[in-house]
Amino acid sequence: MPPHDSTLEEIKDRIDIVDLISDYVQLKKAGQNWKGLCPFHAEKTPSFTVSPAKQIFHCFGCGSGGDIFTFLARSENLSFPEVLKILAKRAGVTLKTSPREAAETGEKEPLFNINKDAAWFFEQNLPKHAQAAGYLKGRGISGDIQKRFVLGYAQNSWNSLLNFLGRKGYKPEMVRKAGLATQGPKGIYDVFRNRIMFPIYDLKGDVIAFGGRAIDNSEPKYLNSPETPVFNKRKILYGINHAKDSIKDTGQALLMEGYLDVITAHTFGFTNAVAPLGTACTQEHGKLIKRFAEEAIIVFDSDEAGNKAAKNSAGILLESGLNVKILSIPGKEDPDSFLRKKGKEAFQALLENPLSVIDFFMLQKGDKRIMAREAIEAISKAPDKILQGTYIKMLSEKLNVEERYVREEYQRIKKQQQGHNRSAPSPQPKPKAKPKNELYIIKLLLQRPERAAEVCVTITSEDFKDPVARSIFNRIKEGTTELKQLLSKCDGEERNYLTGLSLNEDLENPEFEDPEKAMNDCIKRMKVNERKMLLQELQGKIKEAEQKKDFALLKQLQIEQQKISRNG
Ligand code: UTP
Ligand code: MN
Repeated sequence: MPPHDSTLEEIKDRIDIVDLISDYVQLKKAGQNWKGLCPFHAEKTPSFTVSPAKQIFHCFGCGSGGDIFTFLARSENLSFPEVLKILAKRAGVTLKTSPREAAETGEKEPLFNINKDAAWFFEQNLPKHAQAAGYLKGRGISGDIQKRFVLGYAQNSWNSLLNFLGRKGYKPEMVRKAGLATQGPKGIYDVFRNRIMFPIYDLKGDVIAFGGRAIDNSEPKYLNSPETPVFNKRKILYGINHAKDSIKDTGQALLMEGYLDVITAHTFGFTNAVAPLGTACTQEHGKLIKRFAEEAIIVFDSDEAGNKAAKNSAGILLESGLNVKILSIPGKEDPDSFLRKKGKEAFQALLENPLSVIDFFMLQKGDKRIMAREAIEAISKAPDKILQGTYIKMLSEKLNVEERYVREEYQRIKKQQQGHNRSAPSPQPKPKAKPKNELYIIKLLLQRPERAAEVCVTITSEDFKDPVARSIFNRIKEGTTELKQLLSKCDGEERNYLTGLSLNEDLENPEFEDPEKAMNDCIKRMKVNERKMLLQELQGKIKEAEQKKDFALLKQLQIEQQKISRNG
């Protein structure tokens, strides 16, 4: 059974949409509303608008809009029941759940549960296995930190996890689906064996996957869960659950390479450290960071592989709109080993002087011109033109050449890139213009719901050309006249339409000061339009009849034509 309307209303009353969205988008006050860069499409100037008064959002770039429920569902890719659960918790509203409802909570819920149980099992195992516990101790990881990161141990067995989860009622197929077991020719078996286990958490605090480090010399050194319905490597950063507040507070994220780098950084008080999961950095990782801060500091190993990865990541993070700096660790150390050998202050000192993207590229060994070109390629991806200008200036000073030469090279590279991208999908098309009278009448109906009954007799749903406007009109006709309720009942297209017309200032017609009159005028215009269309249609048919010399039909059509003209 869906929750009662009043529960939804209560949740909506208790959560402010500006608060909620601020966890995802950096919003700036603009008049009565707040504005930011849309999280649902790529844009360089903010068209994403949030209205605290109406408790809705709408993006005038891609046309998407809705309320707190819609926003969370789209941002986290969650089903309605999942969103409901999270928002109810945030609002402090208790939901009545029936067993049937629990069964309907989507396919993700059981995966969260099984991962949580597996994490518990691994954690329990750790102190019982001297070799595993000894390994962590040898790496300087204290009991507190083990607890904080819920570290564990997967036994050296083909089925101990399968057996444990089986006793808890999970079918082997479910264990496989969660990426914890795999099907071989001789049967199903545990994926993680004789490994230190690192649970990977999402922002909500659910375990979505695992990383496992071998404690003997077996390969691979690190094994990660495969992608599952709850785990997408491209989107998640290790440690983000612990780091997000600190990223917000410090205004920067430290992007490291590995699990242990992150854990050690947190141990030493650098709680804004995160890492991708054995993959290259992606745009999605950049976006995730950008929800909390404007700056990312790349702290990779200072070996060749680390430098190469840092160059790549710099370009990608710049493209996400982040300010990017690079921290070069002296010697052949990674953040983990550096912190352990040199201590907190030494790392703090490094952090105070990170390299700019330009300095970092130009410090690489090799031909300066090639380095410069690579730097230009990276910075040309930044959406911020001012930032680009600063970088170009810095680079020309570094190279000791006039700025215009760097600019020329920049233009050439930019053109090349555009050539490359020609086959890439073009930017999202602007939402199609909607018939204005229809927008007006729906807007007016929301302002004057008491007139709805009467208006719905004068104009009918056939008077609407836009099918979305038509179905909204039908809902109003059926008695849902409040924006809040409409948004709960509507589908995506209708919701976008409604939030658009509610926040679009171009629709603030001066005529609306007198909504009574405005509505009557609007109805009249719609009727006139309709007559025009009918007449046009008839004209076509008349021509056809004339050509076919169907005089009976012609006569009939002409009578109809006169009738319509007279009624105007
Ligand atoms: P590193 O090889 O630099 O490992 O890989 P590390 O973090 O320093 O680990 P320790 O100190 O030897 O334990 C960096 C990251 O790359 C991924 C992991 O996420 C690791 O943390 N990786 C590495 C894999 O996914 N698989 C591997 O086989 C190796
Ligand atoms: Mn290491």
